[in-house]
Amino acid sequence: MRFDILTLFPDMFPGYMGQSLLNKAIENGIVEVHVHNMRDWSTDKHNKIDDRPYGGGPGMILSVQPVIRCVKAVQEMADDPGQVIVMTPQGERLCQPTVERLATNKRMILLCGRYEGFDQRVIDILDPLELSIGDYILNGGEVAAMVVVDSLVRMVPGVLGDQQSSWDDSFSRGNRMLEYPQYTRPRDFEGHEVPEVLLSGNHKQIEQWRKAQSLAKTKMRRQDLLE
Ligand code: ADE
Repeated sequence: MRFDILTLFPDMFPGYMGQSLLNKAIENGIVEVHVHNMRDWSTDKHNKIDDRPYGGGPGMILSVQPVIRCVKAVQEMADDPGQVIVMTPQGERLCQPTVERLATNKRMILLCGRYEGFDQRVIDILDPLELSIGDYILNGGEVAAMVVVDSLVRMVPGVLGDQQSSWDDSFSRGNRMLEYPQYTRPRDFEGHEVPEVLLSGNHKQIEQWRKAQSLAKTKMRRQDLLE
């Protein structure tokens, strides 16, 4: 799976990409992440990338010319032009079924907006998937793009040690329950004890207890998942 991330803040990514599962997947050649600075595609002599909105109003708008130029150049860096995705609070809300749908793509090009967003013609020309990670406003699309990458790489075979688990998680295919509580040693921490049933060795009882815990937590916190 290949990601191309288009941003005005490329330095936000190396820290995230250098850690944990993603770093390992990149080193193993299972996942590629390429970060591009959209400013590099500006033809303006001051590398200007934004301008004031027609019709007035606050803030600055990312200009159509450098953004389209950057996308076209990046698309040509590989055979597959890829699914273009624009990170925006106006987009389709990301959820696990969307992650599973996107996981069928071999390549995705993620555009991170800043300021007051992109000139509408960027959207009209590219006809991208517009994606939001939730109903709140971030300072830009970068953190949202990391969320998309993070949720997607877990679906790539070979990235997780235990391949089963990415499909077993809460919210995966048909699983509409929150997870049951988990414990590890010590058995007693300052009087906070591990539930007795988990120490019983009775697998059937443990499974029943876990199902009941999942159901109770889901009913209490996320009734909507059961409807
Ligand atoms: N950019 C700013 N806020 C965002 C959000 N909630 N989701 C995706 N991109 C964004």
